[in-house]
Amino acid sequence: MPDHDDAPVRRWLLPLLDADRGGRSAMTCRYRCADACAHEPANTSGNAYFGDVVEAAVSRRGLLRGGALAAAVVVGSSAAGTLTAGTLATASDDVAGAATPPTPDHPGGPEYGRPVGFRPVGDNTLDAVVVPNGYDWSVTIAWGDPVLRGAPEFDFDDQTAAAQREQFGYNCDFVAVLPLDRRFDRALLWVNHEYTNEELMFRGWTGAAGATRQQLRIAMAAHGGSIVEIERVGDTGEWRPAGGGRRHNQRIHTGTRFRVTGPAAGSALLRTEADPSGTAVLGMLNNCAGGTTPWGTVLTGEENFHQYFGASADVIDSTTAARYARYGIRTTTGTERGWERAEPRFDVAREQNEPNRFGWICQIDPYDPRSTPQKLTALGRFKHEGATTALTADGRIAVYMGDDERFEYVYKFVSSGRYRAGRSARDRRHNLALLEDGDLYVARFTGDSPAAEIDGSGRLPSDGLFDGTGEWLALVVGGESRVDGMSVEEVLVFARLAADAAGATKMDRPEDVEPHPVTGTVFMALTNNDRRTPAQADEANPRATNRWGHVIALDEDGGDAAALGFTWRIVLVAGDPDDPSTYYAGFDKSRVSMISCPDNIAFDPSGRLWLATDGMPGSVGVNDGMFVLPLDGDDAGHLRRFASVPVGAECCGPCVTPDGRTALIAVQHPGEEDGASPDAPASTFPYGDQPRPSVVTVWRTGPTGGPYIGD
Ligand code: FEO
Ligand code: CA
Ligand code: CA
Ligand code: CA
Repeated sequence: MPDHDDAPVRRWLLPLLDADRGGRSAMTCRYRCADACAHEPANTSGNAYFGDVVEAAVSRRGLLRGGALAAAVVVGSSAAGTLTAGTLATASDDVAGAATPPTPDHPGGPEYGRPVGFRPVGDNTLDAVVVPNGYDWSVTIAWGDPVLRGAPEFDFDDQTAAAQREQFGYNCDFVAVLPLDRRFDRALLWVNHEYTNEELMFRGWTGAAGATRQQLRIAMAAHGGSIVEIERVGDTGEWRPAGGGRRHNQRIHTGTRFRVTGPAAGSALLRTEADPSGTAVLGMLNNCAGGTTPWGTVLTGEENFHQYFGASADVIDSTTAARYARYGIRTTTGTERGWERAEPRFDVAREQNEPNRFGWICQIDPYDPRSTPQKLTALGRFKHEGATTALTADGRIAVYMGDDERFEYVYKFVSSGRYRAGRSARDRRHNLALLEDGDLYVARFTGDSPAAEIDGSGRLPSDGLFDGTGEWLALVVGGESRVDGMSVEEVLVFARLAADAAGATKMDRPEDVEPHPVTGTVFMALTNNDRRTPAQADEANPRATNRWGHVIALDEDGGDAAALGFTWRIVLVAGDPDDPSTYYAGFDKSRVSMISCPDNIAFDPSGRLWLATDGMPGSVGVNDGMFVLPLDGDDAGHLRRFASVPVGAECCGPCVTPDGRTALIAVQHPGEEDGASPDAPASTFPYGDQPRPSVVTVWRTGPTGGPYIGD
């Protein structure tokens, strides 16, 4: 397809955009997070923004510019490295009953630092997926497609909850591909289903008050996650469902039983009338991003869980009310979704502890359909974006996590036990329990430049670089609370309150936090924060009214993921490259694609950083998309748009497969625009009728260049 360049249209649109919702439509705000950003930020702690405590003036600008970025990223980092399911020790082709999942055997995969070759896709507002010349794409699976054996075909006008529990859920977000054989011709596709858009799912929807029980139950069933066996199409990079409701296929929804693990399992804070043990929870909610573990499981984060809970009366005691307030849970009104009408546990007046059972990182074993998914209390409870793993110098597992709300924090967990690379069933059982016990930390970022460098207008000096040091503040260490007045259970269940007390740094909505698989440098996407004032700007969050977001790179001291100290630097300050407050890793901004609101990130086998965006339509007037940010050599910082998603959609995933030949993108909420409805859809993606959230695969077709994503 041809490139598009509608920069003039974009500039014309800019003044018309509503920035107060962080670049989202009103429908997005209502359905995704229950208008969380319309309320005052939940974090009213006195913790620093660090603009007021920056240290001595040590200007280190220049260090990270151009090719120097490559040196800093690669040379300055440990190769201790991170592990994903794609780097597992080789195991049997026969996955059924195998102790450890297999590693794909893909000789000739892309070399590290392979140059980017594609011509970038232009900014556009098309109702289509657009990829560069020399690439093709197809829909792998869409909302309503059968997942379980015997599931009915999707019928928009005859939906049932029973059918939805067997079909692909709504609003796909995090995507992972886990190998099923060594040739990597068969794989497991994991997809989060974050939330639902009832206005687009049901004709005549007028709100929860008018919803039928069946509609409420359909929406509940459309949340959660899906596991689908997929197979390669010929010898291409295209993948499709293996079909027929394969053995590994699963639908996880609000009726799926989870086992609570870790120090807070069984806590009085988690006990309910239906579960007096405090160890068994039905469902996971609002699962946004995630990661995979070296032992082949999926970690998935419960994000805006607060929106599912309401109260039929004001009967909450003051302690509980304060805890609810810190998480944005209503105590006096019903919800936009109305689930409390279908299940009393969603009414906090009737079941006070039910909200405490959501907001966790969940661990799913896609290789064992009979396994019980876990909620990992050792990793703390907040509005989890995702969770990604790294191996520490002494063989333990570190997990990096962001709390996605304005002025929230970045966390790290380090397991007590060591990872076992062996392939026995015993080793895998050991690894499956690794995240039940360990230490929890939260990040404090300290700048080392004078506050005066931060322009009072909130603009970054055009040649400026912001960097500094930081520390991981202990919340729980060695099984003991490090927060005065809070027990271990309280620290974990109310981690935000513990982090307030510890003095963590308030960030601009921490989304994906992910370690580079070779260098170990941890990259974090800060998607935006339009409420930060000039007085609150600091080096790590240097822009007031940050509508466009930024990306920070963090290097642990000594290259060890278990370190308690780190250095950090900003590598990208997003927005229109013509805006002087933007920074593209020192690269010539006249040559980059525009990016705004970075959300999900991923690395490919060549070591390149991929970014997916959530909010470009509202913040810069063009569709969201997937971008590559080379980290090495002369091309470092040369950001290019690889794909764009249809009208109203957010670009999620993204995922580049371990053989480098396929990119997967979750097209979330196509057509999510104010005023849209089934009778007046804003998007008809992908099949020309009602918009359906979908996972698409993108692959290289040539005719020139190599076979890999990015060529
Ligand atoms: Fe669900 Fe933080 O995006
Ligand atoms: Ca600095
Ligand atoms: Ca996200
Ligand atoms: Ca998002």
